[in-house]
Amino acid sequence: MLGNIPSKKPKTIFYKPSYSSGNGTLQIEKLFNKRVFSNPKPLQLLWDFIEIGLSRNDTILDFFAGSGTIADAVMQLNAKDDGDRKYILVQLPEKIDKKKNKTAYDFVKDELKANNPTIFDITKERLIRAGNKIQADNKASKIPKDLSKQDFGFKVFETMPIWEDYDFEADEFDKQQTLFNEITLTENDIKALLTTWKTYDGIALTCDLEAIDLGGYCGYYASQKLYLMDQGFKTENLVKLLEKIDKDTNFNPTSVVAFGYHFESKNLRENSENLKSYANKKQMDIDFIIRY
Ligand SMILES: C[S@@+](CC[C@H](N)C(=O)[O-])C[C@H]1O[C@@H](n2cnc3c(N)ncnc32)[C@H](O)[C@@H]1O
Repeated sequence: MLGNIPSKKPKTIFYKPSYSSGNGTLQIEKLFNKRVFSNPKPLQLLWDFIEIGLSRNDTILDFFAGSGTIADAVMQLNAKDDGDRKYILVQLPEKIDKKKNKTAYDFVKDELKANNPTIFDITKERLIRAGNKIQADNKASKIPKDLSKQDFGFKVFETMPIWEDYDFEADEFDKQQTLFNEITLTENDIKALLTTWKTYDGIALTCDLEAIDLGGYCGYYASQKLYLMDQGFKTENLVKLLEKIDKDTNFNPTSVVAFGYHFESKNLRENSENLKSYANKKQMDIDFIIRY
């Protein structure tokens, strides 16, 4: 001891030589034939974490995906023990600094053909290469396993900003909100809003909304929720909607959610009353929800 300051650092007791970050670097180099990411975690460390903390059908969430080692580790373990572990990775579209990491920058630009190379490009490519490698190695092994039930695919979701001062809690038209002039809303704004509402309503991101034609007006439907986002919903569209509810066995909206800014308040009242009072053949209670 030097005064009150300890002079010796404790060594971790959770250690194996295979946990060295050099191992992680070698593993990435093997997949990409070059060093495209600095200090990725070694697979061995993550296998041990996963086996300590997860059962074989759990989902692991990594908010700082980097090169995506956790997904590689999950796929490899699943292939080894027929597990059904799932992963969710989050990665910022952090730009790759051309000066600091020229190898990675050039690789993403030249081989992956990305205009603005980001770390996410590496994450995504790692998942593709890792999945392919596991299958190729298995095929080339002496006793290949049946991996046909293993899922080596993945879906990519991207967050999109909703317009800056959007008020999710608003429950009526706010004249002060000049931004909500339909002219200022782009198709992407509406798409972002629809995804936000869908998630809020408990519909999985993996569940696509179905476009429903209501006599020339397009509604969006999933999990018994129908979203009316666009302008121009008229009485004839409401009639089509009621007909579809009666006739289509696969169409059972218990909530109809309307984007209030795209309706006149008189129409909103009428639609709400008509939907609620109409004695549909399925005897379903249908809620009419207005969101702004
Ligand atoms: C040290 S790396 C992770 C390495 C990873 N475990 C591997 O083996 O490749 C951390 C990553 O987190 C990302 N990151 C940093 N801040 C973040 C944030 N707020 N949200 C999401 N990702 C973030 C960085 O872009 C970087 O890729």
